[in-house]
Formats: sequence, structure tokens, C-alpha cells
Amino acid sequence: MYLIQRPRRLRTTPNLRAMVRETTISVDQLIYPVFVKPGTNRQDPVHSMPGIFQWSVDRLVEHLTEVYAKGVKAFLLFGIPSHKDDVGSEAYDENGIVQRALRQLRTALPESILIADLCFCEYTSHGHCGLLTSEGVVDNDPTVELLARTAVIQARAGASIVAPSDMMDGRVGEIRKGLDRAGFSDISVMSYAAKYASAFYGPFREAAENAPAFGDRRSYQMDVGNRREALREVLLDLDEGADIVIVKPALPYLDVLSDVKHQVLVPIAAYQVSGEYAMIKAAGLNGWIDERRVIEESVLSIRRAGADMIITYFAPELASWLNSDH
Ligand code: PBG
Repeated sequence: MYLIQRPRRLRTTPNLRAMVRETTISVDQLIYPVFVKPGTNRQDPVHSMPGIFQWSVDRLVEHLTEVYAKGVKAFLLFGIPSHKDDVGSEAYDENGIVQRALRQLRTALPESILIADLCFCEYTSHGHCGLLTSEGVVDNDPTVELLARTAVIQARAGASIVAPSDMMDGRVGEIRKGLDRAGFSDISVMSYAAKYASAFYGPFREAAENAPAFGDRRSYQMDVGNRREALREVLLDLDEGADIVIVKPALPYLDVLSDVKHQVLVPIAAYQVSGEYAMIKAAGLNGWIDERRVIEESVLSIRRAGADMIITYFAPELASWLNSDH
């Protein structure tokens, strides 16, 4: 007979609490998203995300060198191009902004994990994630073809992982095929498999300057009310060859994270998105919450629900705290 006992005695000292803690977080599990733009010596603040900047390549390299020294080794790159057009050409230009950043970072931080966001919404004048038909709806198949081409160009520039965030059908398979054909079978695909049509992306639209000029993304992002559908999206992406799957946003979708964790055997990333960051920062700056404790609690909860790694704008701060704990 199992005697149920309150674990009170095991909570009495910090060392005892640490010993029986079921979930922990380490710097190895953090991925830091960054925004890169043309020019030199630029560090332009994103107003809705205090502490987050759009960087020119030279300054980004300096910044990430410091962050790397704290132990964060994985970076997710978003580009703000010098010009946008209706086919998003700078996304797949060898000299596009992300490709230039990748080359410089690969040289400065040869062992870093460079993850290239793979989507056209930052590069298209209409702000949608793909090519449009003459009726103004996203044209799936030609977009997928272009995504595969872009992945190869990103890999050639130094990406270790490509992260398709567009949500087109069949993209993971085509990207995988494209990479393999070009000799990049060692480059992984981290797919935004369960990506909800969320209002929590609000501040990102300022940071990445990618608000859609008309309509919204609901035809290709998931409905907030759906839970089982997430699993279907994840399984489809795995079937096409995804190596890592992303659930996004993170904190409002812990149920989804937990489901995915129980159903699949690949590593899972959770994306604590711009709106999650902005809310915590705003309350913290007002003195309404204990910012550090809320940040730590939120990432630990995301880990507890099932995330193997967390994409978070808090990565540099978390790394400093994790380092000072020892
Ligand atoms: C699309 C993309 C978005 C985010 C990451 N990739 C925004 C969108 O779908 O509108 C949002 C991330 C965040 O809010 O931090 N390329």
C-alpha cells in the first residue's frame, strides 16, 4: 500500500528543493530571435518590445558575440530587407540581408547554431507569407517551390537549420528535397508545425515590419479554438521530414505543447512570442510584477508542459541569471 504523504520536508531548503525539482532550464535550451536590417552601426529600438532592437549586420555580430559568451548558442534570424516587392525577391537573393548576416555570423561564431526564418512576409510589399494569385489569395504551390529555393540559399550562406514559418501545405517535404538535392542533407528543418493565428504576434509586426497590407493570416494559420488539429499539423510535418517542431505561441498553448510532447518523438520547440514578451516587460517596467520571477516562471512552465527548447526574446537575460546562480 502506497502511503500518500505531503512532500513538505523536501521543500525546506533551497538545496532540497533543487534536488527534487522535476523541471529545469539550461542555457543550452534557449534560442534567441533577432532582427537584422541594412546599414551600418544601427541599433534601432522596437518600441513595443523594450530591450529588443533591429540591428545592422556589424552591430548584430557584436551583440551576438556577447550573448554567445553568456552561453546562448542558438539564434533565430529575421530580416528586414532594403526593399520589398510583390514576390519577396530579397528573401532569396544571395546578397539579401539574412544571407549577409549568416555569412558574417558563421565566420565570427563558427560553432553557433544559426536558424534562418523561412517566410516571405517580411519581404513582400503586401506582407503576406507567399506569392499571391491575381485574386489576391496566397498561391500555395509556387510559394512552396520558392521556399525550397530560399532554404538552399540560406544553407549556402551558413544556416545550420531552416525554420519555415509560412504554413503553406507541403512545404516541409519540398524544402527537405531541395536541401538534399543541393547537398545539404545535414541541414535540419525546424518547422512551425502548430502555429496559431494569434494576436500575440502584434509587436512582432512592428519589429519585422511585416503587417499584412490587407486581410489577415487566418487562411493559413490555425484557429485558436482547435487543439487536436495541432497534432494533425505536427504529424503531417513529421511525415514530410521535419527534424524539430515548433508550437507557437507558448504560454497560452501549454495544452498543445503537452499533447505534442506525448504524441511525437522528435524535439519540440516552443516560441514565447513578441506579445508574451511585451506583456511581461510592460508590467515589469510599471513595477506591477516581479519581472525576473515572472520570466523564470513562464519559461519553466513552458519546459514543464513539454518544450525541449524555448525560442525567447528573454534569452540573454535568462542566460545572465542562470550563470549567476552557480
Ligand atoms: C512570420 C512570423 C511571425 C512570427 C514569427 N514568424 C508573425 C506572423 O505570423 O505574423 C511572430 C513571432 C513573434 O510574435 O514573436 N514569418
